[in-house]
Amino acid sequence: MSVLITGIGELTTNDGPPLADAALVLDGDRVAWVGPAAAAPAADSATDVEGRAVLPGWVDSHTHLVFAGDRTAEFAARMAGEPYAAGGIAVTVAATRAASDDQLAGVLRRHVAEAVAQGTTCLETKTGYGLTTADELRSATLAAAHADEVTFLGAHLVPAGVSTEDYVNLVCGEMLDAVTPHVRWADVFCETGAFDEDESRAVLTAAKARGLGLRVHGNQLGYGPGVRLAVEVGAASVDHCTYLTRSDVDSLARSATVATLLPACDLSTRQPLPNARQLLDSGVTVALATNCNPGSSYTSSMAFCVATAVLQMRMSVEEAVRAATWGGARALRRDDVGVLRAGARADVHVLDAPSVTHLAYRPGVPLTYAVWRKGVLERQPHHQRDR
Ligand code: NIG
Repeated sequence: MSVLITGIGELTTNDGPPLADAALVLDGDRVAWVGPAAAAPAADSATDVEGRAVLPGWVDSHTHLVFAGDRTAEFAARMAGEPYAAGGIAVTVAATRAASDDQLAGVLRRHVAEAVAQGTTCLETKTGYGLTTADELRSATLAAAHADEVTFLGAHLVPAGVSTEDYVNLVCGEMLDAVTPHVRWADVFCETGAFDEDESRAVLTAAKARGLGLRVHGNQLGYGPGVRLAVEVGAASVDHCTYLTRSDVDSLARSATVATLLPACDLSTRQPLPNARQLLDSGVTVALATNCNPGSSYTSSMAFCVATAVLQMRMSVEEAVRAATWGGARALRRDDVGVLRAGARADVHVLDAPSVTHLAYRPGVPLTYAVWRKGVLERQPHHQRDR
């Protein structure tokens, strides 16, 4: 079944400059054709978006959605002046271990649906609130049932009652063996209060030996070895990048490692925002992601991240939109999402606005008008919803 989308006022493809008066044809779960409306081929059905802007669905390359429990009090304390610390993760670990499979699946489903309704069409999520082999395996299988990409984050925090050495050995051995069939990526929280450089390297090396792709949480709470290590092991991304030295930026620029910036997290933890301008001007590939999790960044809104990047991080609208689509795809080493061209996944986001500029010009306004994910219309245009 094919659908022709006409009346596109501004089409962002990430495969060339934006097009005016454009059309798109989706066929099944793929984009079949992109070009000027006047040359559009026929399709089984047609939808006129009446001059609205169309762009690839958001690619949210960093979330932590396998969780239970609530950390509102911790957030409130932070807003009253308490600092964010890695130890808060333990609160979510206890709640997640106590939850049933159905409860965890419900939380995942609700958050994925919430993200899709806001234009996210490709979403990564992580384990990391289990921290025993059985709980991490459960998280990995649940995540694989609900997300496009799954990352093993057994190295999120050393659980209470276990020595760091024993825990790193467990992650590098039994835990990785158990989760590897269910995940594509492995990650480590390389930060004060979590895992140091040598411990992080051990986890990443063990994951690489099992054929997993690598990611690193690094340089979130202070300067440190995260970026250096991510580049050394050939990680697809290093996420956070709030505190970078000139040498961190230079080594990223010489590498294929994407710098994934998580501005909602920096705002929610009262950290400074990362220096996106320095990264972009140095030639680093930048992604924007939500880091949706109950502790440090409880939002699924990629539009909020884009607006923040433009209004507060001096990214242009075009840079921010690209980072939230194609940048996320690069962080996940995918070339079938975050782009609208023939053969790409039919992931389409229609804004209730004539241009992507409105994402920053109208911050906080829900601008998602329609969403196709893998060719399925997930969010109906208003006029069809009102019928
Ligand atoms: O990316 N940095 C480590 N993990 C999450 C925080 C998780 C939590 O506090 O529950 C993050 O910010």
